[in-house]
Amino acid sequence: MKKIAVKASKPYEVLIEQGLLSECGRLVSEVTKTKFTAVITDDNVDAIYSERVISSLEAAGFRVVKFVFPHGEKSKCSDTLNSIYGFLAENGITRADSLIALGGGVVGDITGYAAATFLRGLSFIQIPTTLLAQIDSSVGGKTAIDLPCGKNLVGAFKQPELVICDPLTLKTLSPEIVSDGMAEAIKYGMIRSSELFELIASHSIEDYFDDIDDIICSCVSIKRDVVENDEFDRGERMLLNFGHTLGHAVESYYNYETYTHGNAVAAGMHMITEQAVKSGECDRESLEKLDAVITSYRLPLTVDAPYSGLIPLCSKDKKCESTSINAIICSSIGTSFIKKMPFEDFRAFMEA
Ligand SMILES: NC(=O)c1ccc[n+]([C@@H]2O[C@H](COP(=O)([O-])OP(=O)(O)OC[C@H]3O[C@@H](n4cnc5c(N)ncnc54)[C@H](O)[C@@H]3O)[C@@H](O)[C@H]2O)c1
Repeated sequence: MKKIAVKASKPYEVLIEQGLLSECGRLVSEVTKTKFTAVITDDNVDAIYSERVISSLEAAGFRVVKFVFPHGEKSKCSDTLNSIYGFLAENGITRADSLIALGGGVVGDITGYAAATFLRGLSFIQIPTTLLAQIDSSVGGKTAIDLPCGKNLVGAFKQPELVICDPLTLKTLSPEIVSDGMAEAIKYGMIRSSELFELIASHSIEDYFDDIDDIICSCVSIKRDVVENDEFDRGERMLLNFGHTLGHAVESYYNYETYTHGNAVAAGMHMITEQAVKSGECDRESLEKLDAVITSYRLPLTVDAPYSGLIPLCSKDKKCESTSINAIICSSIGTSFIKKMPFEDFRAFMEA
């Protein structure tokens, strides 16, 4: 089993091994004091994995209650959150008990936020089941719900007690959802590790699973390093935003209907790197390698929306300050820096 220790304000481990789901009861019992837990999941994941998880928890002596909500980003909202609060109250969950997030980033984010706020906070465990959740959203302690006027606008920093990552769960994902998560894996390689980038580039969407444990482990290690240095997102953690400022603008331009997050981030990574090549801040070979790997995971390099439509939306990204933008630029594969620019300079940079 691969174990990654995260030394955030509250230390915890990320465990990675194929088949770990069936051992989750024993693993959870090692980090929680009481034997009462609520599993929160969505309907898709429930149909495939709840039984295995609950059997393992019950075999380890847990009393388990389960809350299931409809899958999809639309559920990451205050209505679902209120239903979770009501369910926890009705079932007598106390601050000594725990929540288990079983699912993708939507389940992880809303369960984490419920754990941060219900009874002023109780412990929670992440069992991520999408690639994006295993390499990104389950680690680092950002939790959130969406508002009608924007994504992730209400949230809290809340670190989990444990993250249990079973790569075998990725086998039931559609290739599109795997590709979406792979955009974030490519991002980690670009900002921090040419070795990880080459490992991802040595595969494609067809055979990505051959080295998946190592890919997940490298991504989580990078996220761990960045989060340990900047848990509350005031500096280095912004590097994780590579491709995201433009990516969020793409998602927003198309009303979150045309491009998924990973697709938008892939295009965002290409667009900013292409401009960095023009400004002499990145070498052309790195751009060509980035483009090749994006394409091999069936992700887009560009979108039809013009920069004149995207750039104003970049300033609405919540990572931006009032008059400037923190653009993340890779000078080569594995090396990145934050370039703080006034909006007008960013516009000129993108429209060059
Ligand atoms: N907290 C963070 O740091 C952070 C980082 C990145 C993204 N996020 C958030 O993560 C969310 C996106 O996460 P996501 O891409 O995992 O989406 P998701 O949770 O919506 O999952 C995608 C789809 O896959 C299904 N699914 C999940 N696991 C499955 C499995 N093993 N087999 C079959 N189907 C399965 C889900 O039911 C859903 O339909 C967004 O809300 C985003 O804001 C959070």
